[in-house]
Amino acid sequence: MNKADIILICASPRPKGTSAMLLERIRAVTGGEVIFLPQKDSLDDLILAMQEATTIIISGPCYINTYPARLIELLETAASAGGFSGQKLYGVINGGMPYIHTHRHGLLCLQLFAERNHLLWQGGFVLGCGAMLDGKPLEKHMNRKTVVPAFAQFILHIKEGTPSSDSLYEQAQSPPGKLMTRIFASLLTFMVEKHIKKCGHDPKAPNWYLREQGPD
Ligand SMILES: Cc1cc2nc3c(=O)[nH]c(=O)nc-3n(C[C@H](O)[C@H](O)[C@H](O)COP(=O)(O)O)c2cc1C
Repeated sequence: MNKADIILICASPRPKGTSAMLLERIRAVTGGEVIFLPQKDSLDDLILAMQEATTIIISGPCYINTYPARLIELLETAASAGGFSGQKLYGVINGGMPYIHTHRHGLLCLQLFAERNHLLWQGGFVLGCGAMLDGKPLEKHMNRKTVVPAFAQFILHIKEGTPSSDSLYEQAQSPPGKLMTRIFASLLTFMVEKHIKKCGHDPKAPNWYLREQGPD
């Protein structure tokens, strides 16, 4: 693989976050330049670089069940620009929740983009519990025993230019059971309520939009 032909796009605004850490892990093996999308004013030169690349790798966080809006904007602008022919596209998405299904939509966006714009969709990697990592090495992940070798396998696919199947990341991460989900949900609710109180609000107050309007 020619290093100049590979482009790695980070869709997180956090240059030291989990998306960037995963991308750096890939870059260490494949080479290529990492481009931070949120820090770019114009998309034009980035789209040109994507058109000229042979392999494109996108890594980003899950924001409300898919990639951040800036990445969706990039895909839409690139689709309008056209000029793609057989570029290999790989995607990585990480989310805070310890699940896969809530983040997978990001990869579906990339797949549709590839299929409709003459790129070659090569598969991706979904990572749960990305917020707990907060940019720390993958070796600190709660499922490290299975996630680390699975991600290494994913990187190997990129290096060799072969497709990566969903089963790779699915088998590496098992969702927490009902009891753990309950404990996890209670903990998150407690933390959110604590934060709301700290900001001087009542967490039990009715939703602002649903409140009955009194006489002005
Ligand atoms: C605006 C916003 C929306 C988010 N939405 C979700 C979400 O829908 N599901 C989820 O699991 N995590 C969500 N998260 C958490 C991030 O996906 C998580 O912190 C991720 O690890 C951030 O990656 P980064 O370090 O690369 O920025 C959200 C975070 C922010 C700031």
